[in-house]
Amino acid sequence: MKLANAFGLWTELSLALQTALIPTMKDVWKKPATIAHLSRTFMAHAWIAFASQVDANARTVKRELFLPNATGVVLDIGAGLGHGVQYLDHSKVTKYVAVEPNIRMHPELRKTAAAAGYLESNGTLVILGCGAEEIMTILESLGSTMHAVDTITSVMSMCSIPSAEEALRALVRHVLKPGGQLLFYEHVLSPRKDVAWWQRFWAPMWQIFYDGCRLDCPTDIWIGNLVDSDDNGETVSIWSERKLWGVPGETEETVFHHVLGKFVKRESRMIS
Ligand SMILES: C[S@@+](CC[C@H](N)C(=O)[O-])C[C@H]1O[C@@H](n2cnc3c(N)ncnc32)[C@H](O)[C@@H]1O
Ligand SMILES: *[C@@H]1O[C@H](CO)[C@@H](O)[C@H](O)[C@H]1NC(C)=O
Ligand SMILES: *[C@@H]1O[C@H](CO)[C@@H](O)[C@H](O)[C@H]1NC(C)=O
Repeated sequence: MKLANAFGLWTELSLALQTALIPTMKDVWKKPATIAHLSRTFMAHAWIAFASQVDANARTVKRELFLPNATGVVLDIGAGLGHGVQYLDHSKVTKYVAVEPNIRMHPELRKTAAAAGYLESNGTLVILGCGAEEIMTILESLGSTMHAVDTITSVMSMCSIPSAEEALRALVRHVLKPGGQLLFYEHVLSPRKDVAWWQRFWAPMWQIFYDGCRLDCPTDIWIGNLVDSDDNGETVSIWSERKLWGVPGETEETVFHHVLGKFVKRESRMIS
């Protein structure tokens, strides 16, 4: 891997520092307790400045993935400022459930959702201030019904979930309906050894600034390996369909190795 590529993330980081450092320090000055959520505060300022650009860069692939596929009740993991709602077809998506633990992002998230026709006042929008790993809170907010969600979406958020593998397993098993879909656009651990080395090298530093975001999560592999038991009690893949592909034109030599995924959960066991 060329050193310039290995160090490429410093361009982003220095831009983020220029933009978000002073506002973060001001927040701490105004409210010293902010110090306990420094990374989250920094992330909010940085994301408010850069999210639209990051979103625009991937508009085509996100449109192709989400617009035709997402249906029914959609649970968006790490909804951020609500950019994902723009890729939902209002005639097919009845409810937008946005999981976003960074409450500084909620006002903007609410505005974006409203512009797309999703409102808390008529029950088409639910904003949850918990993390995606807080399965009980998510289930309770959906009326404690298991398998209440038709589509789970995630755009560059799975990397920030603590114990993500376990959380994803629980979300798919308990929250996603049989026959439901998991649609994602994520940066993951690269299959290239040299790139993966740099991802592991930078991961501890990067997560300090970006609220726990890890550059070295093999999220796509964790998802692909999820299992369930079939009618005979045998262990089988939880998926009936697995599609995983890369971003056309993206260089292999990047620590932000992106993948797109469309996974469909097996139908439930037959009741005999
Ligand atoms: C890179 S941003 C992406 C936001 C949005 N999906 C988008 O595409 O604009 C990552 C988001 O994950 C959120 N996040 C952090 N920890 C999380 C957790 N434990 N569960 C769910 N989301 C989390 C962050 O607050 C942030 O909004
Ligand atoms: C779903 O997403 C895939 C991949 O982007 C796309 O090829 C397909 O046309 C979409 N629609 C349906 C209904 O599967
Ligand atoms: C909720 O309100 C929005 C905005 O007026 C509208 O687009 C949507 O169709 C309404 N949905 C329901 C179920 O009433």
